[in-house]
Amino acid sequence: MNQAVLVIIKPDGLKKSLTGNILTRFSETKLEIVAAKIARVSEETAKEHYQHLKEKPFFDELIKYLRGDLHDRHKVMALIYWGKNAIQKCRELAGSTNPEEAESTSIRGSYGRITTSGVYENVIHVSSNEAEAERELKLWFSPDEIIVDLYPVKETLEKEHRRKTWA
Ligand code: PPS
Repeated sequence: MNQAVLVIIKPDGLKKSLTGNILTRFSETKLEIVAAKIARVSEETAKEHYQHLKEKPFFDELIKYLRGDLHDRHKVMALIYWGKNAIQKCRELAGSTNPEEAESTSIRGSYGRITTSGVYENVIHVSSNEAEAERELKLWFSPDEIIVDLYPVKETLEKEHRRKTWA
């Protein structure tokens, strides 16, 4: 069955110019990219993304890392891959969460490291299961930004909603 998975190329991946390399690796999966963007990460989004880790001793550093404070690169690339067994395929290419335990040929094994304060700088995030993928995708993308219908949507008419359009 088709699955959607969120992949985030974190600020260290962008700083080290690994984007092309990582996308090439993922293209081996033959999965389809159905959404992609470069985004600044607000404190709110970062904390919501890692909400299940808020009691961990590394939480504050993890938030700084995702927001780019550790690399002076305040952006990430967020993508949704879609297709058969998308989660397993992307997680296999990513390698173990701990970059020192990741297979040396995996993305994290090739490019990740652990900082002196114990935070995994593991270059990419990949959703861990279908429930997490749904939660994360809905946090990072609006329905309009995704080219397939992944989950039910509702339409609302927003009055006096301030937004920018091309002048
Ligand atoms: S859990 O609860 O352990 O299963 O959490 P998990 O979903 O694996 O995500 C852990 C995320 O925190 C990042 N991180 C660390 N985890 C464990 N130990 C240390 N020291 C640590 N430092 C950072 C880890 O990389 C996971 O984030 P993502 O973005 O998924 O890689």
